Order: sequence, then structure tokens, then C-alpha cells
Amino acid sequence: MTIADTAARSEADEPNEFGYRSFSLGQFHFSRDEYFAYINWPAGRHVMSVDAFLRALQRDVAWEFFYGIVNFDGVVGTMNHYGTVDLFAGRYNDAYRKAELDHVETVESPVIKDAFTAILSDWTNEGFDPFASPEETGSAFGPKHGDNDDAINRHRVIANRMVSLPGDEPLRSDENGHPVNRMFADVGQDEPEVYAEPGFEAEVGSFNLFAYLSRSQVTWNPSVVSVCRESLYCPTTEEYILPIIHGNDRAEWFVQLSDEIIWDVEDRDTGRKRAKVIMKAGDVAAMPSDIRHQGYSPKRSMLLVWENASAKIPELISSGQFPPQPGEL
Ligand code: PHB
Ligand code: FE
Repeated sequence: MTIADTAARSEADEPNEFGYRSFSLGQFHFSRDEYFAYINWPAGRHVMSVDAFLRALQRDVAWEFFYGIVNFDGVVGTMNHYGTVDLFAGRYNDAYRKAELDHVETVESPVIKDAFTAILSDWTNEGFDPFASPEETGSAFGPKHGDNDDAINRHRVIANRMVSLPGDEPLRSDENGHPVNRMFADVGQDEPEVYAEPGFEAEVGSFNLFAYLSRSQVTWNPSVVSVCRESLYCPTTEEYILPIIHGNDRAEWFVQLSDEIIWDVEDRDTGRKRAKVIMKAGDVAAMPSDIRHQGYSPKRSMLLVWENASAKIPELISSGQFPPQPGEL
């Protein structure tokens, strides 16, 4: 395995014949043409469909590298160390490891965030929204035409206490640009009535989560709607394929709120297949910390992802003090 120990820097080149700039981050080089993203490093090279690449890149940037590993596919991705980020190729792929074709660059988080943001902005064409479902967006392909910076920089919902409370993330409505999605036309839009004791108006709240989710414009984008110390409720609406393969660094709970998602579950470090999990409305699953997973949602569905955001958990698990699964069977 190669690990570069240089302080990785990012650089951008002039536009190529298709109008796209190429970018270097340490010894990684990123370029695109009309259909593909190319990722090169000293011992190897990789190609991905550019729409899949941009959908993965969008999430990595918007989620600040998320919990643990964001695999763009079975080869390329990032591992979050919360301050620095490993950018890797083949690191979590048995065959690349055995052939010693893997490569890792450890980069300060702001440096890789700036580099990824620049690639995302330059390579996203007008009309392509990497967060939207394929049915609800235009094409990522072709020579460079325009940009979609409004979409790629959209506000990320992170509630302080809970959506709808005074001063916190507002409810969604037609008026603030969040119409009900075509697939959730049957979701009731009534809101609960709350009668707080005088003096407690700012402390007691309630909202219709189904109505809130029915108005989401994006897919595969958990947003923090309620916070109880380290416990975060991060529901999301899903359609088509989760654009990343998420390698956990903690257990995550999934509550399927509507419809159905099929999950492919693999060993986190080698990619060996471990399970196929079919979750129907009402099902609950705990995904252990030693797996990676990718979901398929045939119809737009609602999923509650429940995270414990404690910064101590990854170390407690990697040192063996916590088991990889959240409970004994
Ligand atoms: C996950 O990796 O747990 C995850 C990520 C994004 C989603 C849902 C689940 O939309
Ligand atoms: Fe996950």
C-alpha cells in the first residue's frame, strides 16, 4: 500500500477540449469528458460514469465527509477522521490491496472540501441536480454548458433542537418553494395542534414529519430534524440508488417509514458480500459498524436514519471496547 505523507495540496488546470478543468489533490488527478470521470494515481487509474461521480461527490461535500467511509464505488472514496480526511483508491478493496495498487492521501478537511467543491462546481452542468432523483433532473453529460451552483449549494437542514420550534428550521410549504412531491400526493398535510402551558410556548412543539418529508426536493440526503444530546433523527426521502456505498464507523438504526428499500450489505474493509436486507414500511434495522451498505428504492420512500453523533464512538469500536453491533441477539 502507498500512503503519501506530503501535505496534500490541490491545483486546477485549464479547461480541456470539452470545457472541463482537471484537478490534482496530492498525487490524485481528476478529469472528465462528456460521459466519464477519470481518477488517476501513481499505481492505477479508474473510470466512473460522471453522473454517478457527481452524485457521490455532492454528498461527500454537503455532509462534510459524513460518518466513516464514503465509497464512491468499490474503488474510490473518502474516510473521515474528523479534522483530516483520507482520500483513497483501492484501500477497501481486497483485490487492489493484494495487488498493491491502492493509494491513500491524508488531507486537511478544509483542503479536500475546497477541492471537491471546485470539481463539483466546474463539472456540474446547467439542468443537472446531483441531489435530485433521475426522473426529476436533466442530464449530467455532454460538453460543458453553464452551471447549477444554486442546486449544489442548497441549504442543508440541521435543526438545533427540532424543526418547527421558534428560531429553528422552518416547516416546508408551497410558499417557501417546497411543493408536495409527485410520489407523495396522498400524504396528509395536517399539522398537530399544540396547547402549551403559558410560559412553555418555546419549549413544547410538534410537527407532521410525513408532511415535512413529502415536501423534500432531494433524495438520499439525511437532514437533522431533531436533536437530543448526541442522538440525531436524520430522516430522508429515497428514490433510485444511494449514490455512495457508506462504510460505517458506528452502528446506525434505520426505520423504514414508508414503501420499500433493498439494501446490499458488504464487509466494510474487503467488500465481501454479507447480506441483502429488504425493508418494508414499519421495519427497523440496526446496521453494524463493520459493514458498508448501499440502498435501492424502487419508488420514492421515507427512511429515518438514527445516528449517535458522539465523537468517542469510532475509537471505542476500533479499540474493541464497543462491539460492532448495538445489541446482543
Ligand atoms: C447511510 O449510509 O446510512 C445512508 C446515507 C444516506 C441516506 C440513507 C442512509 O439517504
Ligand atoms: Fe450508513
